[in-house]
Amino acid sequence: SETEKNTLRSPICAILGHVDTGKTKILDRIRKSKVQEGEAGGITQQIGASFFPVEELRRKTKSIPAAQRLQLSVPGLLVIDTPGHESFANLRSRGSSLCDIAILVVDIMHGLQQQTLESLHLLRVRNSPFIVALNKIDRMYGWEPHQDAPLRDTMKKQEKHVRDEYDARVQKTITEFAEQGINAIEYHKNKDFRKYVSLVGTSAVTGEGIPDLLMLLVQLAQRFMTERLTTRDRLECSVLEVKMIEGLGTTIDVILVNGVLHEGDEIVVCGLNGPIVTNIRALLTPKPMHEIRVKTDYIHHKVIYASQGVKIAAPDLVDAIAGSSLYVVGDEIDREAAIDLAKKEVSDLNRYIDKSGYGVFVQASTLGSLEALLSYLEQVEIPVSGIGVGPVHRKNVMAASTMLEHKKEYAVILAFDVRVGQDAARFAEECGVRIFTADIIYHLFDMFKKYVEDIEA
Ligand code: GTP
Ligand code: MG
Ligand code: NA
Repeated sequence: SETEKNTLRSPICAILGHVDTGKTKILDRIRKSKVQEGEAGGITQQIGASFFPVEELRRKTKSIPAAQRLQLSVPGLLVIDTPGHESFANLRSRGSSLCDIAILVVDIMHGLQQQTLESLHLLRVRNSPFIVALNKIDRMYGWEPHQDAPLRDTMKKQEKHVRDEYDARVQKTITEFAEQGINAIEYHKNKDFRKYVSLVGTSAVTGEGIPDLLMLLVQLAQRFMTERLTTRDRLECSVLEVKMIEGLGTTIDVILVNGVLHEGDEIVVCGLNGPIVTNIRALLTPKPMHEIRVKTDYIHHKVIYASQGVKIAAPDLVDAIAGSSLYVVGDEIDREAAIDLAKKEVSDLNRYIDKSGYGVFVQASTLGSLEALLSYLEQVEIPVSGIGVGPVHRKNVMAASTMLEHKKEYAVILAFDVRVGQDAARFAEECGVRIFTADIIYHLFDMFKKYVEDIEA
Protein backbone atom coordinates (compact mmCIF):
# COMPACT_ATOMS: atom_id res chain seq x y z
CA SER A 1 0.00 0.00 0.00
CA GLU A 2 1.00 3.66 -0.33
CA THR A 3 1.49 4.10 3.43
CA GLU A 4 3.87 1.16 3.56
CA LYS A 5 5.73 2.47 0.56
CA ASN A 6 6.25 5.67 2.47
CA THR A 7 7.58 4.10 5.63
CA LEU A 8 9.42 0.95 4.57
CA ARG A 9 12.72 1.09 2.76
CA SER A 10 13.70 -1.43 0.12
CA PRO A 11 16.38 -3.76 1.46
CA ILE A 12 19.90 -3.45 0.06
CA CYS A 13 21.59 -6.64 -1.11
CA ALA A 14 25.36 -6.71 -1.61
CA ILE A 15 27.08 -9.20 -3.88
CA LEU A 16 30.35 -10.25 -2.32
CA GLY A 17 33.02 -12.82 -3.11
CA HIS A 18 36.50 -13.60 -4.37
CA VAL A 19 37.72 -11.99 -7.61
CA ASP A 20 36.31 -13.42 -10.86
CA THR A 21 33.79 -15.72 -9.24
CA GLY A 22 31.15 -14.16 -11.53
CA LYS A 23 29.45 -11.51 -9.35
CA THR A 24 29.03 -8.93 -12.12
CA LYS A 25 28.24 -11.57 -14.71
CA ILE A 26 25.38 -12.92 -12.60
CA LEU A 27 23.92 -9.40 -12.42
CA ASP A 28 24.42 -9.01 -16.18
CA ARG A 29 22.49 -12.20 -16.77
CA ILE A 30 19.61 -10.98 -14.59
CA ARG A 31 19.62 -7.45 -16.06
CA LYS A 32 20.31 -8.55 -19.63
CA SER A 33 23.26 -6.13 -19.59
CA LYS A 34 26.94 -6.29 -20.55
CA VAL A 35 28.58 -4.35 -17.75
CA GLN A 36 31.31 -6.95 -17.10
CA GLU A 37 32.59 -6.87 -20.69
CA GLY A 38 33.20 -3.12 -20.38
CA GLU A 39 35.37 -3.35 -17.26
CA ALA A 40 39.12 -2.63 -17.45
CA GLY A 41 40.94 -5.95 -17.14
CA GLY A 42 37.56 -7.63 -16.56
CA ILE A 43 37.69 -6.65 -12.90
CA THR A 44 35.29 -4.51 -10.91
CA GLN A 45 36.98 -1.51 -9.32
CA GLN A 46 33.97 0.46 -8.08
CA ILE A 47 30.80 -0.16 -6.16
CA GLY A 48 27.85 -0.55 -8.50
CA ALA A 49 24.12 -0.36 -7.88
CA SER A 50 20.98 -1.38 -9.69
CA PHE A 51 17.36 -1.49 -8.61
CA PHE A 52 15.39 -4.72 -9.05
CA PRO A 53 11.63 -4.03 -8.91
CA VAL A 54 9.45 -6.70 -7.30
CA GLU A 55 7.61 -7.29 -10.60
CA GLU A 56 10.90 -8.17 -12.31
CA LEU A 57 11.86 -10.55 -9.52
CA ARG A 58 8.44 -12.15 -9.81
CA ARG A 59 8.74 -12.50 -13.59
CA LYS A 60 12.19 -14.03 -13.37
CA THR A 61 11.13 -16.63 -10.84
CA LYS A 62 7.99 -17.71 -12.75
CA SER A 63 9.58 -21.06 -13.56
CA ILE A 64 9.61 -21.94 -9.86
CA PRO A 65 6.07 -22.53 -8.54
CA ALA A 66 7.04 -22.04 -4.86
CA ALA A 67 8.34 -18.55 -5.65
CA GLN A 68 4.88 -17.36 -6.66
CA ARG A 69 3.70 -17.53 -3.06
CA LEU A 70 6.35 -15.07 -1.89
CA GLN A 71 5.34 -11.49 -1.16
CA LEU A 72 7.50 -8.42 -0.67
CA SER A 73 5.93 -5.35 0.90
CA VAL A 74 8.47 -2.98 -0.68
CA PRO A 75 8.91 -1.78 -4.28
CA GLY A 76 12.01 -3.91 -4.79
CA LEU A 77 15.64 -4.53 -3.87
CA LEU A 78 18.68 -2.36 -4.39
CA VAL A 79 21.52 -4.63 -5.45
CA ILE A 80 25.10 -3.51 -4.83
CA ASP A 81 27.96 -4.99 -6.84
CA THR A 82 31.38 -5.02 -5.16
CA PRO A 83 34.94 -5.74 -6.35
CA GLY A 84 36.50 -9.08 -5.41
CA HIS A 85 40.12 -8.17 -6.10
CA GLU A 86 42.21 -8.13 -2.95
CA SER A 87 43.21 -4.48 -3.34
CA PHE A 88 39.62 -3.30 -2.84
CA ALA A 89 39.10 -4.46 0.73
CA ASN A 90 37.79 -1.01 1.65
CA LEU A 91 35.13 -1.07 -1.09
CA ARG A 92 34.01 -4.52 0.04
CA SER A 93 33.84 -3.19 3.55
CA ARG A 94 31.83 -0.15 2.41
CA GLY A 95 29.56 -2.29 0.22
CA SER A 96 28.86 -4.65 3.06
CA SER A 97 28.30 -1.76 5.47
CA LEU A 98 25.52 -0.46 3.20
CA CYS A 99 23.77 -3.80 2.87
CA ASP A 100 21.01 -5.55 4.78
CA ILE A 101 21.39 -8.93 3.13
CA ALA A 102 23.97 -10.47 0.78
CA ILE A 103 24.77 -12.99 -1.89
CA LEU A 104 28.17 -14.58 -1.41
CA VAL A 105 29.43 -15.90 -4.73
CA VAL A 106 31.78 -18.89 -4.72
CA ASP A 107 33.32 -20.46 -7.82
CA ILE A 108 32.20 -24.09 -7.62
CA MET A 109 35.46 -25.16 -9.29
CA HIS A 110 37.57 -23.42 -6.60
CA GLY A 111 35.59 -23.51 -3.36
CA LEU A 112 36.30 -20.99 -0.60
CA GLN A 113 39.11 -18.55 -1.44
CA GLN A 114 40.86 -15.75 0.36
CA GLN A 115 38.35 -12.96 -0.31
CA THR A 116 35.49 -15.40 0.32
CA LEU A 117 36.82 -15.66 3.86
CA GLU A 118 37.27 -11.91 4.09
CA SER A 119 33.67 -11.41 2.91
CA LEU A 120 32.42 -13.96 5.43
CA HIS A 121 34.16 -12.00 8.13
CA LEU A 122 32.45 -8.77 7.03
CA LEU A 123 29.04 -10.44 6.97
CA ARG A 124 29.59 -11.89 10.41
CA VAL A 125 30.65 -8.60 11.92
CA ARG A 126 27.41 -7.01 10.71
CA ASN A 127 25.34 -10.10 11.32
CA SER A 128 23.92 -9.87 7.78
CA PRO A 129 21.92 -12.83 6.54
CA PHE A 130 23.20 -14.22 3.24
CA ILE A 131 22.86 -16.96 0.66
CA VAL A 132 25.63 -18.62 -1.34
CA ALA A 133 25.72 -18.92 -5.13
CA LEU A 134 27.99 -21.78 -6.21
CA ASN A 135 28.65 -20.28 -9.61
CA LYS A 136 30.09 -21.64 -12.88
CA ILE A 137 28.32 -25.01 -12.69
CA ASP A 138 28.47 -25.05 -16.51
CA ARG A 139 32.21 -25.53 -16.28
CA MET A 140 31.90 -29.03 -14.89
CA TYR A 141 32.99 -31.68 -17.39
CA GLY A 142 30.15 -32.91 -19.57
CA TRP A 143 27.65 -30.25 -18.46
CA GLU A 144 24.62 -29.94 -20.77
CA PRO A 145 23.29 -26.38 -20.64
CA HIS A 146 19.56 -25.60 -20.45
CA GLN A 147 19.23 -21.83 -20.71
CA ASP A 148 17.66 -20.13 -17.65
CA ALA A 149 16.41 -23.43 -16.21
CA PRO A 150 15.75 -23.84 -12.49
CA LEU A 151 18.54 -25.88 -10.91
CA ARG A 152 16.49 -29.02 -10.32
CA ASP A 153 15.19 -29.14 -13.88
CA THR A 154 18.64 -28.92 -15.45
CA MET A 155 20.15 -31.26 -12.87
CA LYS A 156 17.65 -34.00 -13.75
CA LYS A 157 18.78 -33.81 -17.36
CA GLN A 158 22.52 -34.15 -16.64
CA GLU A 159 24.46 -37.41 -16.99
CA LYS A 160 25.02 -39.30 -13.75
CA HIS A 161 28.75 -38.50 -13.64
CA VAL A 162 27.94 -34.78 -13.84
CA ARG A 163 25.40 -35.00 -11.01
CA ASP A 164 27.95 -36.95 -8.98
CA GLU A 165 30.59 -34.31 -9.58
CA TYR A 166 28.13 -31.58 -8.52
CA ASP A 167 27.26 -33.47 -5.33
CA ALA A 168 30.95 -34.00 -4.54
CA ARG A 169 31.76 -30.32 -5.04
CA VAL A 170 28.79 -29.24 -2.93
CA GLN A 171 29.91 -31.61 -0.15
CA LYS A 172 33.45 -30.25 -0.32
CA THR A 173 32.14 -26.66 -0.06
CA ILE A 174 29.92 -27.59 2.90
CA THR A 175 33.00 -28.99 4.65
CA GLU A 176 34.95 -25.80 3.92
CA PHE A 177 32.12 -23.69 5.36
CA ALA A 178 32.02 -25.95 8.42
CA GLU A 179 35.72 -25.21 8.95
CA GLN A 180 34.67 -21.55 9.17
CA GLY A 181 32.00 -22.40 11.71
CA ILE A 182 29.14 -22.03 9.24
CA ASN A 183 26.45 -24.63 8.62
CA ALA A 184 25.75 -24.63 4.90
CA ILE A 185 23.23 -26.83 3.15
CA GLU A 186 21.66 -27.17 -0.31
CA TYR A 187 18.74 -24.80 -0.29
CA HIS A 188 15.96 -27.29 -1.03
CA LYS A 189 17.03 -29.22 2.08
CA ASN A 190 17.13 -26.13 4.29
CA LYS A 191 14.40 -26.34 6.93
CA ASP A 192 15.88 -23.81 9.36
CA PHE A 193 17.16 -20.57 7.88
CA ARG A 194 18.41 -19.36 11.23
CA LYS A 195 20.80 -22.29 11.53
CA TYR A 196 21.74 -23.03 7.95
CA VAL A 197 23.01 -20.95 5.06
CA SER A 198 21.47 -21.97 1.73
CA LEU A 199 23.68 -23.00 -1.21
CA VAL A 200 22.49 -22.88 -4.80
CA GLY A 201 24.33 -23.88 -7.97
CA THR A 202 24.25 -21.19 -10.68
CA SER A 203 25.69 -20.31 -14.04
CA ALA A 204 25.94 -16.68 -15.10
CA VAL A 205 26.67 -17.86 -18.65
CA THR A 206 23.65 -20.15 -19.16
CA GLY A 207 21.32 -18.60 -16.55
CA GLU A 208 20.81 -21.98 -14.90
CA GLY A 209 19.97 -21.73 -11.20
CA ILE A 210 19.37 -17.99 -11.49
CA PRO A 211 15.58 -18.32 -10.92
CA ASP A 212 16.40 -20.28 -7.74
CA LEU A 213 18.90 -17.64 -6.65
CA LEU A 214 16.34 -14.86 -7.10
CA MET A 215 13.71 -16.83 -5.22
CA LEU A 216 16.12 -17.28 -2.31
CA LEU A 217 16.92 -13.60 -2.46
CA VAL A 218 13.24 -12.64 -2.14
CA GLN A 219 12.86 -15.11 0.73
CA LEU A 220 15.85 -13.60 2.48
CA ALA A 221 14.59 -10.05 1.93
CA GLN A 222 11.19 -11.00 3.29
CA ARG A 223 12.76 -12.50 6.37
CA PHE A 224 14.92 -9.45 6.84
CA MET A 225 11.87 -7.19 6.57
CA THR A 226 10.03 -9.03 9.31
CA GLU A 227 13.01 -9.28 11.66
CA ARG A 228 14.49 -5.82 11.49
CA LEU A 229 13.42 -2.22 11.56
CA THR A 230 13.03 -0.90 8.08
CA THR A 231 11.57 2.56 8.53
CA ARG A 232 12.82 5.49 6.55
CA ASP A 233 13.17 8.13 9.24
CA ARG A 234 16.93 8.74 9.39
CA LEU A 235 18.84 10.05 6.36
CA GLU A 236 21.83 7.95 5.32
CA CYS A 237 23.39 8.67 1.97
CA SER A 238 26.82 7.80 0.55
CA VAL A 239 28.52 9.40 -2.48
CA LEU A 240 29.80 6.82 -5.00
CA GLU A 241 31.17 8.90 -7.85
CA VAL A 242 31.47 12.41 -9.25
CA LYS A 243 30.74 12.58 -12.99
CA MET A 244 30.38 15.20 -15.71
CA ILE A 245 27.25 14.52 -17.74
CA GLU A 246 26.53 16.48 -20.89
CA GLY A 247 23.43 18.60 -20.37
CA LEU A 248 23.50 18.15 -16.59
CA GLY A 249 26.95 19.43 -15.64
CA THR A 250 28.74 17.84 -12.72
CA THR A 251 26.64 15.22 -10.98
CA ILE A 252 27.16 12.87 -8.06
CA ASP A 253 26.01 9.27 -7.91
CA VAL A 254 24.86 8.35 -4.43
CA ILE A 255 23.40 5.40 -2.61
CA LEU A 256 20.39 6.56 -0.64
CA VAL A 257 20.52 3.94 2.11
CA ASN A 258 17.82 5.44 4.29
CA GLY A 259 15.55 8.47 4.33
CA VAL A 260 14.15 10.66 1.57
CA LEU A 261 15.60 13.14 -0.94
CA HIS A 262 13.60 15.96 -2.56
CA GLU A 263 14.34 18.16 -5.51
CA GLY A 264 15.45 21.51 -4.06
CA ASP A 265 16.84 20.06 -0.79
CA GLU A 266 19.83 21.91 0.65
CA ILE A 267 22.69 19.40 0.90
CA VAL A 268 26.25 19.29 2.25
CA VAL A 269 28.97 17.02 0.83
CA CYS A 270 32.75 16.81 1.33
CA GLY A 271 34.75 18.81 -1.18
CA LEU A 272 38.45 18.97 -2.04
CA ASN A 273 38.53 22.55 -0.78
CA GLY A 274 36.21 22.07 2.15
CA PRO A 275 32.54 21.19 2.52
CA ILE A 276 30.19 22.09 -0.35
CA VAL A 277 26.77 23.52 0.46
CA THR A 278 24.35 23.43 -2.47
CA ASN A 279 20.78 22.67 -3.54
CA ILE A 280 19.56 19.64 -5.48
CA ARG A 281 18.61 20.82 -8.98
CA ALA A 282 17.67 17.41 -10.39
CA LEU A 283 17.08 14.01 -8.85
CA LEU A 284 17.63 11.19 -11.33
CA THR A 285 17.76 7.43 -11.41
CA PRO A 286 18.71 5.00 -14.15
CA LYS A 287 15.81 2.85 -15.34
CA PRO A 288 15.11 -0.19 -13.15
CA MET A 289 17.53 -3.08 -13.85
CA HIS A 290 20.23 -0.68 -15.09
CA GLU A 291 23.64 -0.24 -13.47
CA ILE A 292 24.23 3.30 -12.18
CA ARG A 293 27.94 2.94 -13.06
CA VAL A 294 27.01 2.86 -16.75
CA LYS A 295 25.83 5.93 -18.66
CA THR A 296 22.18 5.63 -19.65
CA ASP A 297 18.89 7.55 -19.98
CA TYR A 298 17.74 8.88 -16.64
CA ILE A 299 14.32 9.20 -15.03
CA HIS A 300 13.58 12.52 -13.27
CA HIS A 301 11.99 12.49 -9.80
CA LYS A 302 10.56 15.12 -7.42
CA VAL A 303 11.17 12.83 -4.46
CA ILE A 304 13.07 9.57 -3.95
CA TYR A 305 12.63 7.09 -1.12
CA ALA A 306 15.35 4.73 0.10
CA SER A 307 16.82 2.52 -0.94
CA GLN A 308 17.96 3.74 -4.35
CA GLY A 309 21.01 4.50 -6.44
CA VAL A 310 20.52 8.18 -7.32
CA LYS A 311 22.21 10.68 -9.61
CA ILE A 312 22.08 14.21 -8.23
CA ALA A 313 22.67 17.32 -10.33
CA ALA A 314 23.46 20.47 -8.34
CA PRO A 315 25.68 23.54 -8.70
CA ASP A 316 29.27 23.49 -7.35
CA LEU A 317 29.75 19.73 -7.25
CA VAL A 318 33.00 19.74 -9.26
CA ASP A 319 35.16 19.31 -6.16
CA ALA A 320 32.87 16.81 -4.42
CA ILE A 321 34.71 13.78 -3.06
CA ALA A 322 33.39 10.33 -3.81
CA GLY A 323 33.24 7.97 -0.89
CA SER A 324 31.99 10.62 1.51
CA SER A 325 28.55 11.09 3.07
CA LEU A 326 25.82 13.42 1.90
CA TYR A 327 23.87 15.40 4.50
CA VAL A 328 20.51 17.13 4.02
CA VAL A 329 20.05 20.35 5.95
CA GLY A 330 16.71 20.25 7.77
CA ASP A 331 14.95 19.14 10.93
CA GLU A 332 17.43 16.42 11.71
CA ILE A 333 20.59 18.52 11.45
CA ASP A 334 21.32 22.19 10.78
CA ARG A 335 23.77 23.59 8.24
CA GLU A 336 26.65 24.13 10.68
CA ALA A 337 26.44 20.61 12.08
CA ALA A 338 26.40 19.14 8.55
CA ILE A 339 29.48 21.17 7.61
CA ASP A 340 31.34 19.91 10.71
CA LEU A 341 30.53 16.29 9.86
CA ALA A 342 31.70 16.75 6.27
CA LYS A 343 35.01 18.27 7.42
CA LYS A 344 35.76 15.39 9.70
CA GLU A 345 35.45 12.77 6.94
CA VAL A 346 38.29 14.10 4.79
CA SER A 347 40.71 14.45 7.67
CA ASP A 348 40.30 10.72 8.40
CA LEU A 349 42.44 9.84 5.34
CA ASN A 350 45.39 11.86 6.61
CA ARG A 351 46.38 8.96 8.84
CA TYR A 352 47.93 7.30 5.76
CA ILE A 353 50.46 10.10 5.35
CA ASP A 354 53.94 9.16 6.53
CA LYS A 355 55.11 11.01 9.65
CA SER A 356 58.64 11.36 8.21
CA GLY A 357 57.35 13.74 5.53
CA TYR A 358 58.95 11.58 2.82
CA GLY A 359 56.99 9.47 0.39
CA VAL A 360 55.28 9.25 -2.99
CA PHE A 361 52.27 11.31 -4.07
CA VAL A 362 49.00 9.61 -4.70
CA GLN A 363 46.14 10.77 -6.84
CA ALA A 364 42.90 8.85 -7.43
CA SER A 365 39.50 9.36 -9.02
CA THR A 366 37.43 9.00 -5.86
CA LEU A 367 37.79 9.07 -2.10
CA GLY A 368 36.97 5.36 -2.15
CA SER A 369 39.61 4.45 -4.71
CA LEU A 370 42.08 6.77 -2.97
CA GLU A 371 41.45 4.92 0.26
CA ALA A 372 41.85 1.57 -1.54
CA LEU A 373 45.15 2.71 -3.05
CA LEU A 374 46.41 4.09 0.27
CA SER A 375 45.61 0.94 2.19
CA TYR A 376 47.25 -1.12 -0.55
CA LEU A 377 50.41 1.03 -0.45
CA GLU A 378 50.44 0.66 3.31
CA GLN A 379 50.43 -3.14 2.91
CA VAL A 380 53.33 -3.08 0.43
CA GLU A 381 55.16 -0.52 2.62
CA ILE A 382 55.42 2.38 0.21
CA PRO A 383 55.30 5.61 2.23
CA VAL A 384 52.99 8.41 1.07
CA SER A 385 53.58 12.10 1.60
CA GLY A 386 50.66 13.66 -0.25
CA ILE A 387 47.19 12.71 -1.47
CA GLY A 388 44.61 14.11 -3.86
CA VAL A 389 41.35 13.29 -5.60
CA GLY A 390 40.66 14.12 -9.26
CA PRO A 391 42.88 14.89 -12.31
CA VAL A 392 46.62 15.52 -11.89
CA HIS A 393 47.31 19.27 -12.06
CA ARG A 394 50.49 21.31 -12.19
CA LYS A 395 50.21 22.05 -8.47
CA ASN A 396 50.35 18.29 -7.71
CA VAL A 397 53.57 17.97 -9.74
CA MET A 398 54.94 20.95 -7.88
CA ALA A 399 54.25 19.22 -4.56
CA ALA A 400 55.91 15.99 -5.74
CA SER A 401 58.99 17.87 -6.96
CA THR A 402 59.85 18.74 -3.35
CA MET A 403 61.05 15.14 -2.99
CA LEU A 404 63.71 15.55 -5.71
CA GLU A 405 66.30 16.94 -3.34
CA HIS A 406 65.49 14.49 -0.49
CA LYS A 407 64.67 11.14 -2.05
CA LYS A 408 64.51 11.12 -5.84
CA GLU A 409 62.55 7.83 -5.98
CA TYR A 410 59.69 9.50 -4.13
CA ALA A 411 59.40 12.34 -6.66
CA VAL A 412 56.63 10.28 -8.16
CA ILE A 413 52.88 10.58 -8.61
CA LEU A 414 50.94 7.33 -8.58
CA ALA A 415 47.77 8.24 -10.44
CA PHE A 416 44.87 5.79 -10.34
CA ASP A 417 42.05 6.14 -12.83
CA VAL A 418 42.57 9.89 -13.36
CA ARG A 419 43.52 12.16 -16.24
CA VAL A 420 46.87 13.97 -16.32
CA GLY A 421 46.53 17.56 -17.54
CA GLN A 422 48.80 18.51 -20.47
CA ASP A 423 50.34 21.31 -18.48
CA ALA A 424 51.03 18.95 -15.59
CA ALA A 425 52.61 16.35 -17.89
CA ARG A 426 54.89 18.94 -19.51
CA PHE A 427 55.94 20.38 -16.17
CA ALA A 428 56.67 16.91 -14.75
CA GLU A 429 58.88 16.16 -17.75
CA GLU A 430 60.83 19.41 -17.23
CA CYS A 431 61.47 19.02 -13.53
CA GLY A 432 62.01 15.25 -13.39
CA VAL A 433 58.88 14.10 -11.59
CA ARG A 434 57.58 10.74 -12.80
CA ILE A 435 53.84 10.25 -13.20
CA PHE A 436 52.63 6.66 -13.35
CA THR A 437 49.04 6.15 -14.41
CA ALA A 438 47.03 2.94 -14.36
CA ASP A 439 43.46 1.83 -14.10
CA ILE A 440 44.40 -1.24 -12.10
CA ILE A 441 45.75 -0.52 -8.63
CA TYR A 442 48.49 -3.11 -8.35
CA HIS A 443 49.94 -2.14 -11.75
CA LEU A 444 51.02 1.12 -10.08
CA PHE A 445 53.01 -0.89 -7.58
CA ASP A 446 54.72 -2.87 -10.38
CA MET A 447 55.61 0.34 -12.24
CA PHE A 448 56.94 2.02 -9.13
CA LYS A 449 58.97 -1.02 -8.10
CA LYS A 450 60.59 -1.26 -11.53
CA TYR A 451 61.36 2.47 -11.48
CA VAL A 452 63.10 2.23 -8.09
CA GLU A 453 65.11 -0.79 -9.27
CA ASP A 454 66.20 1.11 -12.38
CA ILE A 455 67.31 4.10 -10.29
CA GLU A 456 69.28 1.85 -7.96
CA ALA A 457 70.89 -0.11 -10.83
P1 GTP B 1 35.42 -9.03 -9.80
O1 GTP B 1 34.29 -8.06 -9.74
O2 GTP B 1 36.56 -8.49 -10.57
O3 GTP B 1 35.79 -9.56 -8.47
O4 GTP B 1 34.90 -10.34 -10.65
P2 GTP B 1 33.42 -10.92 -10.65
O5 GTP B 1 33.22 -11.78 -9.47
O6 GTP B 1 32.44 -9.82 -10.88
O7 GTP B 1 33.47 -11.91 -11.92
P3 GTP B 1 33.09 -11.50 -13.41
O8 GTP B 1 31.64 -11.29 -13.55
O9 GTP B 1 33.99 -10.42 -13.83
O10 GTP B 1 33.46 -12.86 -14.15
C1 GTP B 1 34.80 -13.30 -14.20
C2 GTP B 1 35.01 -14.21 -15.38
O11 GTP B 1 34.31 -15.43 -15.20
C3 GTP B 1 34.49 -13.64 -16.70
O12 GTP B 1 35.36 -14.02 -17.72
C4 GTP B 1 33.15 -14.29 -16.85
O13 GTP B 1 32.76 -14.42 -18.20
C5 GTP B 1 33.40 -15.65 -16.24
N1 GTP B 1 32.19 -16.23 -15.65
C6 GTP B 1 31.40 -15.65 -14.75
N2 GTP B 1 30.39 -16.45 -14.41
C7 GTP B 1 30.55 -17.58 -15.13
C8 GTP B 1 29.82 -18.82 -15.21
O14 GTP B 1 28.80 -19.04 -14.56
N3 GTP B 1 30.30 -19.75 -16.07
C9 GTP B 1 31.43 -19.57 -16.81
N4 GTP B 1 31.83 -20.54 -17.60
N5 GTP B 1 32.13 -18.43 -16.75
C10 GTP B 1 31.70 -17.44 -15.92
MG1 MG C 1 32.68 -7.80 -10.82
NA1 NA D 1 36.07 -9.98 -12.76
